[in-house]
Amino acid sequence: YYISYTKPSNAPPCFPILLSILCRKYDFINKGPLELIQDGYKSLGDIFQIRLFHRSVVFLIGPQAHKIFFEAKDTQLSQREVYIFTIPVFGKNIVYDASPKIMQQQLKFMNKGLNLIHMKAHVGKIVMEAEEWFNKWPQTGQIDLIKEFSELIILTASRCLLGKEIRENIHQEFAHLYQQLSDGMSHLSFFFPNAPTNAHKKRNLARIKISKIFEKIIKQRRINQEIQYDDFLQVLIDARYLDDSIPTDDEITGLLLAALFAGQHTSNITSTWMGLLLIKYKSKWMSKLLDEQKQIMNKYHGELSLESLSEMNLLHAVMKETLRLYPPLVFLMRKVLESISYNGYIISKGDIAVVSPSIAHRISDVFKNPDEFNPERFLGENAEDQIEKFSFIAFGGGRHSCLGERFAYLQVKTIWSILLRKFDFELCQEHPEPDYSTLVVGPKAPCMVKFKRKIDSF
Ligand code: HEM
Repeated sequence: YYISYTKPSNAPPCFPILLSILCRKYDFINKGPLELIQDGYKSLGDIFQIRLFHRSVVFLIGPQAHKIFFEAKDTQLSQREVYIFTIPVFGKNIVYDASPKIMQQQLKFMNKGLNLIHMKAHVGKIVMEAEEWFNKWPQTGQIDLIKEFSELIILTASRCLLGKEIRENIHQEFAHLYQQLSDGMSHLSFFFPNAPTNAHKKRNLARIKISKIFEKIIKQRRINQEIQYDDFLQVLIDARYLDDSIPTDDEITGLLLAALFAGQHTSNITSTWMGLLLIKYKSKWMSKLLDEQKQIMNKYHGELSLESLSEMNLLHAVMKETLRLYPPLVFLMRKVLESISYNGYIISKGDIAVVSPSIAHRISDVFKNPDEFNPERFLGENAEDQIEKFSFIAFGGGRHSCLGERFAYLQVKTIWSILLRKFDFELCQEHPEPDYSTLVVGPKAPCMVKFKRKIDSF
């Protein structure tokens, strides 16, 4: 099949993979596909294609190539066709299943719910949940960071996004249904979203049940309008389409789930990697970070707020550096609807265009010593990501860049500000490898660390 494929004359150069697969050159199970893409980049440059079944998958690597990916219009490069697997979870007529006009308006509703005004309300809730959670830890012990953060972040996300009604019942039905939705978003679902598997059947049933739960809550909120709510759910209830119609209860449910899915695993994974890196390199960074915490917490009389968090520049840079080394979304994809050109090559209609934050963040011409953990690369006037647009792409870029970036920084920085001030940590195991068996890539579980409550916490 590979031999019979004839390449159009100005198509991007093709990186042959069939031979590599047959010779088992790459350890896809343990190391994922990144090694192969890295080799394609090294041998063919910033644009090349691989043939997967009947399709050309075109990789664009590096800031200049990213520019055409992120600046393309939706009518040229489309998300819809590659994110079809989300439709059974988000629902009919929601985001990737909606018409382009409706999708745009729905993304605007989400943007409003995640803007600065709402962040002020969210920060207090995140602090409260996180403090309550860590107060339950004993004086000393061992924990699996990824499990711990996963449980905490579903609580913070529930309180800020889904509303207090769900938060207060989170341990009951919702958590169970949410898990069934997650299980129905596997690699298999990516290629065959409606394959008749048990996981997919459970996912579909869970989606119906979740919609019923939200229907009740939304109805109650619409009847009882005296209570003021400042969460994401209320923003969606109050939203209006351009023709003044209101989103249906099922659309509201779908948008809530879209935000939850976009933010929960990504934030959990980032909190975990950040902890693992901070503990691994604590001799170099811990005292600087604690100095920053002391100085800012003194200035703000011990209060974690939007203002105090925004001044924690080193903590911010640590999170960004974590995302540079370990971006949870390793590939961003688009279906090519109109041919586009780059550097004399044509990316043809029907191809899949891909950028990879994981590969992009390790380019040595863009990030000096790219394998080194060095948060200071993001500080000061000469921060490395300022040199060229679209070099740091953990949150994507352009018209579809992450709407939850601010919320994610707020959440992860709050968690680590509290932990750094209250606990000392030690690793109990080797630094884990990334786990490529899931669509959102995190460290291989478990991620065990020892903790000890500080006597002089502040
Ligand atoms: C989009 C990463 C947290 C909501 C994206 C994209 C990336 C990303 C790479 C672009 C996808 C693409 O171009 O195909 C991350 C990371 C996060 C994070 C690394 C945490 C560390 C969140 C949170 C929320 C959120 C907390 C909401 C609460 C969204 C939404 C989009 C998006 C709604 C779609 C934007 C659009 O298509 O216009 N995210 N995200 N994300 N993210 Fe995030």
